[in-house]
This record gives sequence, C-alpha cells and structure tokens, in this order.
Amino acid sequence: MSVHAEFKKVTTHALQEMKRQGEKISMLTAYDYTMALLVDRAGVDVVLVGDSASNVMAGHETTLPITLDHMIYHASSVVRGVDRALVVVDMPFGTYQGNSKEALSSAVRIMKESGGHAVKLEGGQEIIDSIERILRAGIPVMGHLGLTPQSIYKFGTYTVRAKEEAEAEKLIEDALALEKAGCFALVLEKIPASLAKKVSDALAIPVIGIGAGQGVDGQVLVLHDMLGMNHNFNPRFLRRYANLDTVIHDAVSHYVSDVKELKFPTDQESY
Ligand code: KIV
Repeated sequence: MSVHAEFKKVTTHALQEMKRQGEKISMLTAYDYTMALLVDRAGVDVVLVGDSASNVMAGHETTLPITLDHMIYHASSVVRGVDRALVVVDMPFGTYQGNSKEALSSAVRIMKESGGHAVKLEGGQEIIDSIERILRAGIPVMGHLGLTPQSIYKFGTYTVRAKEEAEAEKLIEDALALEKAGCFALVLEKIPASLAKKVSDALAIPVIGIGAGQGVDGQVLVLHDMLGMNHNFNPRFLRRYANLDTVIHDAVSHYVSDVKELKFPTDQESY
C-alpha cells in the first residue's frame, strides 16, 4: 500500500514520513470552497491557500495587494471544503516582515479565524525571528525560497533565480536555517533543477518544487493554471491538465444563444 493511502488526514508528520518513504507529495492551490472540495476529493495531499489569490481571484498584477482579511476569507472557505488534505495558508506581504510580534499576531489570526493547519512565509534568514516566534506558538511553518513573488520589485523580473553561485549558496544556507528553525517543509520556486535536488538531498524535511525539476520531494502548481483557465500565462514549468477556458467559453456561449433563441428553458425545465 502506498503511504498516500495510509493517511486519512494529512499532517505535517505524514508529509515528513512520505519523504522518508520516497512517496512524492502533491500540492495544489485553492481559494474557495467548491474548488477545495474537488481538489481534496481527487486526493491531493496539500491544499495551499496561496497569495496567488491576489492574481487569480482578484486580477491584481502582483501578490502584494492581498490583505490578511482577504487571505482569512479565502482560507476559511477552503477549510470548509477539505476533509483529508493539509491546508497551508500564505501569510500576505507586509504581515510578517516588520517584526516577529506582528508576524505572530498575523499567524494567530490566520489559524484562529480560518481554521487552516499551517502558514507559509517567503524568505530565509532575514525573517528567521518571525518564523521562530510563530513556531514557538505551536503553529507549523512552511518556508518558501527561490523566486519569492512578494519580492518581485526587488528582483525586477519573474525569471529563474539562483543561477549564479552566490545566490545559490545563499539559498542553500537559507534552506538549512529554515530546517534548523523548525519549518516542516519548504517550497522552492523557479530555480535550477540541480540546485533544487541538492537542497532536497541536504534536508530531512520535504522540499516541494514549482519550476524546480524532478529531484525534489513533491510538486505544487496554481490550480487555475494547471486547469488551463488562463492561456496568457505560459511558463516552461506549467503543464496544463485540462483546457477549462475552452470548456467554460463553449458552455457560456451555448447558454447565451439558447436564451436569445428561446431554447432555454423548455416546458420540462419550467413549473
Ligand atoms: O501563492 C502561491 O500560489 C504560491 C505557490 C506558487 C507556491 O506560493
């Protein structure tokens, strides 16, 4: 039997056990009840309430505008739809970088008001105080290194990170520091596959990649991207498992023409 099937509820410990047993971890984003229900029933291990909700749900260009109240709203909707998966909630930009006290109160609000199971923060040693304080309060923390979209104005572009040796070395040091602090898992976004494998091999905690190749312990994608709901976003790492934009377009235009041509509703669809 796979480890996957053994866990009725996925916990942070279950994920670590999956790494030990060599079973890959599947993670997808969700931002609302209905999608969370579908994703959980299909067997995903981790549901990430990503701050990519800022792009996907609200249409912002970056993840920076989304607020703590917005994230709590999305996360509480997701939690109501999930039975098995671990629900991880992104801490939004500006709610944890200032000081560790503010970081803890933001994380406590997420846990209390949404019912999520863990939080994710972007960054390494520069936010270690915040991470340690949140962990001391008993809140599990997932790290996130590499391309960290909350720092997009520092990076200037969404291209692959840590191609240069100095940045790669810093990333490895950050990853080790996050594990030492007590993070239960780490996301690596858009870095060379060889570096991601090196990090995964060096850590006991699971490393989940997006645009980080095969050598890690699991994969994450943004749900709406992998369902093909947005054909304007075409990074190399993205595999589309459906073309829902076409499905939705065809269904809606069919409905519109049925309404205009008095084909809907029929007598059988009326009272
Ligand atoms: O916000 C998000 O969706 C994320 C994933 C891309 C890892 O952080």
